Amino acid sequence: MSIPSDDDQLKITLISLHGLIRVKDPELGRDSDTGGQVKYVLELAEALAQDPSVGEVELLTRQIIDNNVDADYAQIEEPISEKAKLIRIPFGPKRYLAKESLWPYLDVFIDHALAHFRRTGLPDIIHGHYADAGFAGAQLARLLRVPYVFTGHSLGRVKRQRLAMGNAKPETLEKKYKFTIRNEAEETALETAALVVASTNQEVEEQYALYEHYIPERMEVIPPGVDLTNFRPPEEEDQTPPMRAELGRFLQDTDKPMILAMARPDERKNLEMLVKVYGESEALQEKANLVLLMGSREDLREMVPAQRNILQQVLVLIDVYDLYGKVAYPKSHNSDDVADLYRMAASSQGVFVNPAMTEPFGLTLLEAAASGVPIVATNDGGPRDIVANCQNGLLVDPFDQHEIEHGLLRVLTESDHWEEWSQNGIRGANEHYSWKHHADRYLRDIRDLLATTAEPALANVSRKQRLPEFDRLIITDLDNTLTGDEASLREFETMIEQNEHVGLGIATGRRLDDALKMVKELNLPSPDLFITSVGTELHYGDSLTADLSWRKQMGYQWKPDEIRELLDQTAGLFPQGENEQSEFKISYEMDPEVAPEINVLKRMLREAGLRANVVFSLGMYLDILPVRGDSGLCMRHLLYRWGFPPEKVLVAGDSGNDIGMLKGHTLGVVVGNHSPEMEELRKSPRIYFADAPHAKGILEGIDYYQFLNNIVIPNDRIE
Ligand code: GLC
Ligand code: MG
Repeated sequence: MSIPSDDDQLKITLISLHGLIRVKDPELGRDSDTGGQVKYVLELAEALAQDPSVGEVELLTRQIIDNNVDADYAQIEEPISEKAKLIRIPFGPKRYLAKESLWPYLDVFIDHALAHFRRTGLPDIIHGHYADAGFAGAQLARLLRVPYVFTGHSLGRVKRQRLAMGNAKPETLEKKYKFTIRNEAEETALETAALVVASTNQEVEEQYALYEHYIPERMEVIPPGVDLTNFRPPEEEDQTPPMRAELGRFLQDTDKPMILAMARPDERKNLEMLVKVYGESEALQEKANLVLLMGSREDLREMVPAQRNILQQVLVLIDVYDLYGKVAYPKSHNSDDVADLYRMAASSQGVFVNPAMTEPFGLTLLEAAASGVPIVATNDGGPRDIVANCQNGLLVDPFDQHEIEHGLLRVLTESDHWEEWSQNGIRGANEHYSWKHHADRYLRDIRDLLATTAEPALANVSRKQRLPEFDRLIITDLDNTLTGDEASLREFETMIEQNEHVGLGIATGRRLDDALKMVKELNLPSPDLFITSVGTELHYGDSLTADLSWRKQMGYQWKPDEIRELLDQTAGLFPQGENEQSEFKISYEMDPEVAPEINVLKRMLREAGLRANVVFSLGMYLDILPVRGDSGLCMRHLLYRWGFPPEKVLVAGDSGNDIGMLKGHTLGVVVGNHSPEMEELRKSPRIYFADAPHAKGILEGIDYYQFLNNIVIPNDRIE
């Protein structure tokens, strides 16, 4: 692809799936899913769209229809700026869901996103944010062969490590936070990403480094920008902000310098420590007021227990130290109030403090800097980078009460330094932390990337549907799904013959030559398409025309010799016969008693720098495939290419190598005689578990969806 010029402008798709995202009056801090990341993606979208070389930025998120949240979140589209927009895609239940509950529905998102791209054209870049969108974006990027960018925002392994230090049982944590699936999602995102955008060096060295797909060469530290029009130093002509009256309700002397802290009531934010420091320091109380902005609350009693506890502790401490008239803790605020507060802190010659136990980034510190308030902050990754770049304050040990006190007192009393720190912060924020600066660096990296990337194979698909002979399609596995019960197989065959509007596709782990032989032996009507060798090969019609656009990039990152070398010598793995191996599929028989667990096998491959899909079937077969090939990706390629709607496709299977194609927006049928690894699909929508085995199970599924007539989808949403 050539370097984009003005008439070859970039189209960028950002994906951020959880929380409540809206452009107008974003409800930041409303819950733990609606915070820094939401702000980040909205501002990133806007900043990128401002660049003249960018034609369009879209931010894909989830559509939410729920009386408990605003109707804005149900809108399909909302403009962000002239060239940027928010697009909400429905998937899973309509209601608002916590991010931990989105996992079973991501495949449905993928299918909707594919339909969206087919309508509106492919982007030049897909950028997934956090593990959920990180996974979905990676799958889309693999399938469409669009270069992929990933930002983790916060990483599962880091969180698990931190929580492991507490008292909770590992099983309880796993249940609540779904670490295993999150970890896989993050590994997939890292495996796929050509570029990982991190905010700090520490994030790269201490956080991403915990992952098997840690490839530092692909990581770039590009700190996010601060909204510098919103966060700016005070000016003469500024009017008295509404917050002043609000603080007046708490404080005896509102003119005193302000010690300002802003954080959600979260244990890690260390707010109790701060109140203790202030409560036990006469000098601090003498010199300054303490202002705590701890999110907004309506009824304290209805807050989630963890947050309520922190808040209650803070209130108790205020009483214990008798800090009435000296501490303010406004109950609610809007987004303008936040910027006003920083400016009030600056005008009062005050200080902004962030005593969090750990602080990977610390956006509030940058907002304070841009507003001209010196900072006192935890000596950790984010603050360290910020103070190094801006020289705008002091770093302290968040567990050392006296160090915090001393730091605050220094800023409040050394007035020469105060002025210097304040000016440095304003300058530093503008120099290092503007979104413009971020966008410039981001786009430079993207252009380098695109210069070395081939044009996506599906960039120019026809808009028209081109599988015209039928209006619906059954794609079924052969062994044990279609086969195994002669009588019902014949029944199936008759059904296909009598319904000319129904196309037939075969998807199998077998090689094409083998599958053809079997179709003949079974006397099946000749299939319209063949997905063979577990989705690594795709052929059409009687003439078996190969899908070259599918084949073309199968070899991407594929190192079969090295994979064999590693796995041939692994205990419990025995190479299958020569006729089972193919160019893009390496197959073993596996003795699960002896062989390492699947997750361990995956890790072994990753640690050896090998990128591959690992598929386990029937409790005994192990297939290693290229990252861009498996039955799920193959089927989606096919549907995308021909513009065939997934809701007109019934997919049937019995074992692990069918899982990929069963997930998502197609109508899935798992036959009664399925193997145990299929149980994971029980939680997914649009998957019907038939009672009957083999072809009879498929027929049962056909009935269930009324697939031959007016299709109904009783299992569209699983609550
Ligand atoms: C088929 C293939 C075999 C593969 C298995 C699971 O049985 O012949 O090679 O391992 O499916 O995909
Ligand atoms: Mg099978």
